[in-house]
This record gives sequence, C-alpha cells and structure tokens, in this order.
Amino acid sequence: MSYPEIRPRRLRRTAAMRRLVSETRVDPAELVVPMFVKEGLTEPRAVASLPGVLQHSRDSLRKAAVEAVQAGVGGIMLFGVPASRDEIGSGGIDPDGILNVAIRDVIAEIGDATVVMSDLCLDEFTSHGHCGVLTPDGAVDNDATLAAYARMAVAQADAGVHVVGPSGMMDGQVGVVRRALDAAGHQDVSVLAYAVKYASAFFGPFRDAVESALDGDRRTYQQDPANLRESLREVELDVAEGADLVMVKPALPYLDVVAAVRAAVDVPVAAYQVSGEYAMVEAAAANGWIDRERTIMETLTSIRRAGAQIILTYWAVEAAQLLRQRY
Ligand code: PBG
Repeated sequence: MSYPEIRPRRLRRTAAMRRLVSETRVDPAELVVPMFVKEGLTEPRAVASLPGVLQHSRDSLRKAAVEAVQAGVGGIMLFGVPASRDEIGSGGIDPDGILNVAIRDVIAEIGDATVVMSDLCLDEFTSHGHCGVLTPDGAVDNDATLAAYARMAVAQADAGVHVVGPSGMMDGQVGVVRRALDAAGHQDVSVLAYAVKYASAFFGPFRDAVESALDGDRRTYQQDPANLRESLREVELDVAEGADLVMVKPALPYLDVVAAVRAAVDVPVAAYQVSGEYAMVEAAAANGWIDRERTIMETLTSIRRAGAQIILTYWAVEAAQLLRQRY
C-alpha cells in the first residue's frame, strides 16, 4: 500500500481553509440587476415565467432602485414596456416614452449611487417585435435602424442615463451610437456593447416580461450558437468602434465564449445571465430538485471564474444580500 505524498484535500478541510484559498469571489459591486417598467401600471405585476421578477410601475421602480442601492449592487439595467407600439418603435425615441421617463425617475431617486444603464433596442417598442425597422419586404433594415438607435441613444442620455446598452446586433451600432452621443454633448455617457449575443432559446421568459410581439426569430441579426470565432470578430469591431464595456449573452451555456472574449480584449467584460437561465433554476428549485441558493451562487461563481468581471442577473439584489450576510 502506498500513500499519496501530495494531498490536495488538505486545502479543503475546513470552511476557513476553503475561504482562504478561494480563487474566485463574487462581489455585489459587480452585479447588475435588470428591471422592467411598464407604462400605465399602478401596481407592479408578476411575470409568470420569471418568478420573483416584476413588471414595475413607475412608483415601484423607484422603490426597487433604492432597494438595489441599499443592497450594494453595481448597477441597474432598465427595460421599458410601452402601452402601445408602432412599426418604427417611436416610443423608444420619444422623451416621454416609458423607458426615457423611467430613466429620469430613477436618476432623480438615486443619482449616482449606482450605475444606471438602459437597453438600447427597438424590440420592446415595435409592433412586429424586431430589434430594428423593416424594409417593405419585411427584412430588418440595418442602416435605417442605426439612425433610430442614434436618436434613441441621445434621448436616453438626455434623460440622464450613465450607460447605454445597444443590444440589437446591427452592424455598426456601437460606432453610430458613440458618434451620436458625442455630437449631442454626451461624451461622458458610456457604451456597454452587447457585442456577443446569440439567437438563443434562453430569452423566452424575457419576451413574456416585455410582452414581445415577435413572431419568428432573430437569426438574421443575432449569432448562431454554433460559432465562437465570430464572437471574437464582433468584440474586436465593437472595441474599435468605441465600446467602453463588452457583454456576452447568454452566460452559462457560453462560458467558453466568455473566457475567449476575456483573453482577447482589455475592456471590462460583462456576461448576462438571461431569463431562461434564471427560470430553469427557479423551476427546478420550486420542485425541490436542486438547492436554490447554492445553485444561484454556483452559477454566479462559474460565470465570474470564466472571466466575466460584471454579471447581469435577475438575482443581483438577493445575491448581494446573501453575500453581505455571509461575510
Ligand atoms: C433585446 C434584449 C433581449 C434580452 C435583452 N435585451 C431579448 C432578445 O434579444 O430577444 C433578453 C434578456 C433575457 O432573456 O433575460 N432588447
């Protein structure tokens, strides 16, 4: 019988030892919470496929923003759900559109206490649900959409947002948004590029949360899940166009992509743990099939370990609270 000379288990013996040698920590300051606000609501409303996530009223959004600040999260990402939609998504550009109004509300409430971000995309505002405007034959018109994004970026910056998040996957969107912001005197507003965004089935519950009108899919603009090198090209283009931060989305099924992007660029890398990732865990936990809190923390740690410095997650506020209790 020979005994091992080297015993990795020594460093796993106690909780204190494990804490000492832990290579990855999740910090509340790196978590960003997505929030939905719906025009015309007087009371917040639950989203069936995202248990625990709300469609906020303007009022409840302000309160939730304060709660997020108190929990110590690093940021809030705002999504608007308009009461009505049109072909060209005018509600996204209108200063009185729900998202722009919500940005003003949140900034008035919390100022610079956390980073306020906004989704910069037309899909919540178009009657057809696509992320851009359409040509007469129904294709998504890249360059006409860019003009709309430029105006939307300026409207969001005028409303006081700190970071805009172009998420429509139109070619050239980061450069156009950057130039539009600069031309309007908003040099200080940052661009978080959804540089890498896959045409993912994991976005399903989000589309319930924003009551998406989409019939069909986004495969002509979002990426094929089969591709990795294409993501590096997307990231390289976005950084060249002026992205301050880049994001990979979804997160958990694409950790190889997160790691490759982290290795390829020196701007901060974010990952978006999307609605379907959240819903899967919540559903399994509700059935008693997995330990909810441990699973949440394990997913966040894994996304962090893969190289994401910032994580967008619907669990951000709860996870921040749990992390504070623990340390
Ligand atoms: C587009 C957008 C989507 C998500 C974030 N921004 C939906 C889509 O591309 O279909 C999905 C986020 C999630 O699933 O949690 N505005």
